[in-house]
Amino acid sequence: MRTTAKIIDGNALSKQLREDVAARTSALKARGLTPGLAVVLVGDNPASQVYVRNKVKACLDAGLHSVLEKYEATMTEAELLARVDALNNDPSIHGILVQLPLPAHIDAHKVIEAISPAKDVDGFHVASAGALMVGQPGFWPCTPYGCMKMLESIGYDLRGKHAVVIGRSNIVGKPMALMLLQKNATVTVCHSATANLKAMTLQADVIVAAVGKRNVLTADMVKPGAVVLDVGMNRDDAGKLCGDVDFAGVSQVASHITPVPGGVGPMTITMLLVNTLEAAERACAS
Ligand code: GUN
Repeated sequence: MRTTAKIIDGNALSKQLREDVAARTSALKARGLTPGLAVVLVGDNPASQVYVRNKVKACLDAGLHSVLEKYEATMTEAELLARVDALNNDPSIHGILVQLPLPAHIDAHKVIEAISPAKDVDGFHVASAGALMVGQPGFWPCTPYGCMKMLESIGYDLRGKHAVVIGRSNIVGKPMALMLLQKNATVTVCHSATANLKAMTLQADVIVAAVGKRNVLTADMVKPGAVVLDVGMNRDDAGKLCGDVDFAGVSQVASHITPVPGGVGPMTITMLLVNTLEAAERACAS
């Protein structure tokens, strides 16, 4: 039987969550504290320039303070580490985001580890990853955190469900698996060396596709009624933005699906705002 999946609208959910961020930001400002995010961009990667502009704009729209620091691609690692150190010690800044990728001569891991875990709103620091792993308070990476909010928005109970994550990156796949596990799902992580991806996805109640390749998930790979979250951001042959999921086909089988664009993408920035606000609230409480 053919069904048409319900769309989980990332723009609409983001709007709701950003209104909540704006209200909590106003309350914090009334107590004399304005949450602040510093976004650091090194070099002139065109996609990164768009991303950082959107992040800063989203902050300002929600009433947060945000500064964009742009540096030449020739900036040295030592200079960048010195900037991170200065931001760690700046009381007007509660969140620090160093946009990736960094130029090849800079060790991205070293730079991320230099960010104070209390200001690591990207959730990329080893301390943040460790906190997620052991279920302690910390910052969750924004994209998988946004996916969890999307599942929450449809009232989905993960207990006892089988979730299949396709992709094992440190930014999405691995933290996604830990978050699903924390909500009592049975989790399978698939990747480029998985022998039979379709055999795995056909068992899934929830599928998160986070590979960065078109048509990784097609209708024949999805159990009827499954919930499908598409983290991919790719271009089709016509240059149009598309995800990892064959949306036209899979939306005939799934019960819920996220579109690209307008799905997980806006949620990533929304969760960055949530994390920055949370960092400021923690700073206020401590
Ligand atoms: N590059 C692509 N996505 C991200 C992100 O979420 N955070 C950072 N810092 N860099 C990125």
